[in-house]
Amino acid sequence: MRIEIVNIKKLINTRNENKLLRGKELAELPCIENAYLIIEDGMIVDFGSMDVHPSSLSTSLTTIDASDKFILPAWCDSHTHIVFAASREEEFVDKIKGLSYADIAARGGGILNSARKLNDASEDELFSSAWKRIIEVSKLGTGAIEIKSGYGLSIEGELKMLRVIKRLKEQSKLLIKATFLGAHSFPVEYKENHQGYIDLIINEMLPEIAKEKLADYIDVFCETGFFSPEETETICRAGMNYGLKPKIHANQLSLSGGTQVGVKLGAVSVDHLETMDDDAIAALASSNTIGTLLPTAAFFLRMPFQPARALIDAGCAIALATDYNPGSSPSGNMNLVNAMSCIQMKMLPEEVINASTINGAFAMELENEVGSIMVGKKANLILTKSIPSLAYLPYAFGSDLIDRVMIGGEWV
Ligand code: NIG
Ligand code: FE
Repeated sequence: MRIEIVNIKKLINTRNENKLLRGKELAELPCIENAYLIIEDGMIVDFGSMDVHPSSLSTSLTTIDASDKFILPAWCDSHTHIVFAASREEEFVDKIKGLSYADIAARGGGILNSARKLNDASEDELFSSAWKRIIEVSKLGTGAIEIKSGYGLSIEGELKMLRVIKRLKEQSKLLIKATFLGAHSFPVEYKENHQGYIDLIINEMLPEIAKEKLADYIDVFCETGFFSPEETETICRAGMNYGLKPKIHANQLSLSGGTQVGVKLGAVSVDHLETMDDDAIAALASSNTIGTLLPTAAFFLRMPFQPARALIDAGCAIALATDYNPGSSPSGNMNLVNAMSCIQMKMLPEEVINASTINGAFAMELENEVGSIMVGKKANLILTKSIPSLAYLPYAFGSDLIDRVMIGGEWV
C-alpha cells in the first residue's frame, strides 16, 4: 500500500538523523515548504520539495492533496497513567472547596482511592476503559505513548495493570512502552512499615514482572510523604538489575531530591519538575537525562508551572507529556500541553513541537521509530486543517485544528 501526500503547505520536523535536542537546539525546527511525502507499508519512504517531486506514479497509489495544510510527526506522549478504574471528580470538587492534593492523599484519597477501585476492577474492565482512552488520544494526534502501573500497590493489582498494558501493546497500532510504578504510594497496610512494602516491590513484584517481561522501565514517586531519595535509589537499582531503566517522578510538590537521584542513576527521564532550584537545574543540565515537563498537571493542581525557560537556558534536554491520570491531569490532550507550554512557560512553538515529538520519542527510547519525518520511520502523522502558520496551533488553543491522524500508515 503506497500513499502519496502532495502540495503540503509545510512538512514539519524533517530530519536525516536522530539527535536528542537540548538548550538552544530545541528552537531549531527543520521544515520543508510546499512538500510531498510518500508512505509505503506504513513507513515513510521519501519526502521533499514539490519542486523535485518524483513523477513516477504506481497504480496502487493513493494521492492526497494537502494544500493549505501542515503535516507534523504525531505526538509522543512519554508519561501517562491511562490504566485506571474510575475518574475522581469528587476530589476535584473537594479541591475547589479548599482541600490540597496532600490533604486528600493524607485522608486516603488520591492514589489510594484509585488503588482501591483498581483492585476491585477486572482485567477486562480495565482493558476496555484504557482502550477507549487510547482511541481518544490517537484522534488528538498521539502516536506513541508510555503507560505506568502504580494504581495496584499489591502484587495482584500491579501485575493486573501491567498485563493490561501488555494487551494494549499487542492490540494497538500506537507504539506503547510500559513502566512499573509499584512505588507510587505506600498502601494503607504498609503505612507504618515502609521497608515491608519496599521489600514486597523488590522481592515479590519485580521478579514476576521480569519473568513475564511486563515492563520496560521502573518509576518511583520521589516526594515528601511518599518515597525518599534513598528509597527511590534502592528501588530503581533493584529494577535496573532486571534491565529496567529508571524514569522518575521528581520535584513535583517539593524539592524532593528526585532530579539528582535520577541523574545519578542515569535515568532516561525525570518527570514533573514543578519545584526546581539551581542545584537541581544544574544537575539535569550536566546529564543525558531528559526533563519531562507536565504542564497540565501543574495547571490542574493550581501549582506554579515548570521553569521551562530556566531549564532550556541552562542547556537541559526537555520533553513534554500529558501525565494523563484521574488525580492530577485528567486530560491526554498533547495539543493543550503544547499551548499551555507556550502560554504559561514561554516556550516557543518550535520548542514545544520538538519537545512533544523527537524528544518525547527519546524519552521512550523510540527515536529510531517515531518522532520526526525521516525515511525509515513509521508514518505516524498529524494532518492539520487549513491554518495560517505553525504558531497558530498553540495560539488557537481551544480549537480543534487536526484534520486527520495517521498511525502506522493508517488513518485513525
Ligand atoms: O503524576 N505524582 C504522582 N502521580 C500522579 C498523580 C496520581 C494521582 O493523583 O492519581 C502524577 O501526577
Ligand atoms: Fe505521573
